[in-house]
Amino acid sequence: MPSVEKREGEEMTQETSAKMVRICGLAPVMPVLTIEDASVAAQLARVLVESGLSSLEVTLRTPASLQAIAEIRSAVPEAVVGAGTVRTPEDIERARDAGARFIVSPGLTGPLIAAAEKSRLPYLPGVATASEAMAAAERGFLALKLFPAGVVGGIDLLQALAGPMPDLLFCPTGGVGPNNLADYLALPTVVCVGGSWVAPRHLIATERWTEISAMAAEAASARRG
Ligand code: 3PG
Repeated sequence: MPSVEKREGEEMTQETSAKMVRICGLAPVMPVLTIEDASVAAQLARVLVESGLSSLEVTLRTPASLQAIAEIRSAVPEAVVGAGTVRTPEDIERARDAGARFIVSPGLTGPLIAAAEKSRLPYLPGVATASEAMAAAERGFLALKLFPAGVVGGIDLLQALAGPMPDLLFCPTGGVGPNNLADYLALPTVVCVGGSWVAPRHLIATERWTEISAMAAEAASARRG
């Protein structure tokens, strides 16, 4: 018999994970954004939302990232902005305080599960194997980030996992781009994909909005299976 505490945690995770599934469902692609200067964050978010991509992952990889999340949250309310590259409970606290509406991590640890439950933020945890996916599902997660998708098996791995786990949804990230986007999205267990190609770091840093807008619009028009 699972303990009451574990059951309650699982129910809470299911509830917030259902919200995460809805966020993933907003568009076929979730841009993974690395922002070096927070003053361009709102403009970037506007360009992406206007191009049809409204769920945005801002990675906590630069000193400007938390300020960038705060800027997007206050200036572009139509964007659903989350924090990526979350690795510690402190990252979750900082992301929530900055205004992140969801969190994404490259892997999944016990301390992260506890901190995510405490924060009540929708959480997309990273997995790379069948065992990790099973452990996450047992804990109540309905949608998982397959990371780094291209390295750990990509489309073949997702197809193989869909046999025994057809109920689990995935957001493959890492190595996804225009060449394989349609193949990923054709899989019934793929709820959306994540990727930096629609707004690469160097194009953000040089404010190349027209190019970002064109890539984002193309990504937004991709069909899901
Ligand atoms: C991530 O940060 O989640 C991935 O590194 C994004 O991978 P990509 O740059 O291959 O899209």
